[in-house]
Amino acid sequence: MRLGRAALGLLLLAPLAVRAVEPISLGLALAGVLTGYISYPRLYCLFAECCGQKRSLSREVLQKDLDSKLFGQHLAKKVILNAVSAFISNPKPKKPLTLSLHGWTGTGKNFVSRIIAENIYEGGLNSNYVHLFVATLHFPHASSITLYKDQLQLWIRGNVSACARSIFIFDEMDKMHAGLIDAIKPFLDYYDHLDGVSYQKAIFIFLSNAGAERITDVALDFWRNGKQREEIKLRDMEHALSVSVFNNKNTPDTVDIVYFLACRSVPQL
Ligand SMILES: Nc1ncnc2c1ncn2[C@@H]1O[C@H](COP(=O)(O)OP(=O)(O)OP(=O)(O)O)[C@@H](O)[C@H]1O
Ligand SMILES: *[C@@H]1O[C@H](CO)[C@@H](O)[C@H](O)[C@H]1NC(C)=O
Ligand SMILES: [Mg+2]
Repeated sequence: MRLGRAALGLLLLAPLAVRAVEPISLGLALAGVLTGYISYPRLYCLFAECCGQKRSLSREVLQKDLDSKLFGQHLAKKVILNAVSAFISNPKPKKPLTLSLHGWTGTGKNFVSRIIAENIYEGGLNSNYVHLFVATLHFPHASSITLYKDQLQLWIRGNVSACARSIFIFDEMDKMHAGLIDAIKPFLDYYDHLDGVSYQKAIFIFLSNAGAERITDVALDFWRNGKQREEIKLRDMEHALSVSVFNNKNTPDTVDIVYFLACRSVPQL
């Protein structure tokens, strides 16, 4: 707030200075200070939403949010907390943050993506910098795939040019046409620039039911062996799922996979 103090000082000094300085140049100086003040980004961002500026995400707040709102899901909490906070605090990430959330229906994938969005932008999903695409809603017709592809690439490009810290959430990835996934893939890679735009600060979140059965099977095995579900480790999931499910065309390969366990732990036997 150095500028603020300077402005205040000028205002206080103004009556004294009037005698010494011509009124016109004083007026110009004051106007200069005031416009500087108004365009000062942090101050401006107190009143309006800004691209990645409003407040930087706090790991502690995100952790508290996840712990208090998201029931269970110890694996997802850990991966999301680490990945998101590390990414936001990195001033020069090598590639965009890409999270692929997998799990059975109703396990909290949309719920978590909302929590992430709200921790980065005050407006959450309604923010101008957060874009939600639902495969079956926004891209329903297989015959229009070429149109969707061009449109989606233009949108991602346009929005990231306007705000590097843009968030894109793709829901129902498992129902998304493979051609469209190919259209997103180039943005997810380790490119410095693509046609003059850098995507390295952007965040892509994919939601999918793909692999849900396998995730549930792993949880079921633990349950059968009398172990707590909290004992399930990330590597148990990776071991059970990496080869088969996620090497398919509907999951881009540079993503961090986040596993959501089915909520009802007692299976119907
Ligand atoms: N782990 C959870 N903790 C707290 N609330 C949850 C959890 N899972 C689901 N819910 C509640 O259930 C609602 C539905 O969950 P959500 O829409 O996130 O499911 P989903 O994983 O996206 O399912 P689908 O695959 O069907 O889209 C959420 O709005 C939330 O209120
Ligand atoms: C940003 O994305 C939205 C869709 O969420 C789209 O309507 C809009 O045109 C995009 N903006 C630019 C500049 O491409
Ligand atoms: Mg959902």
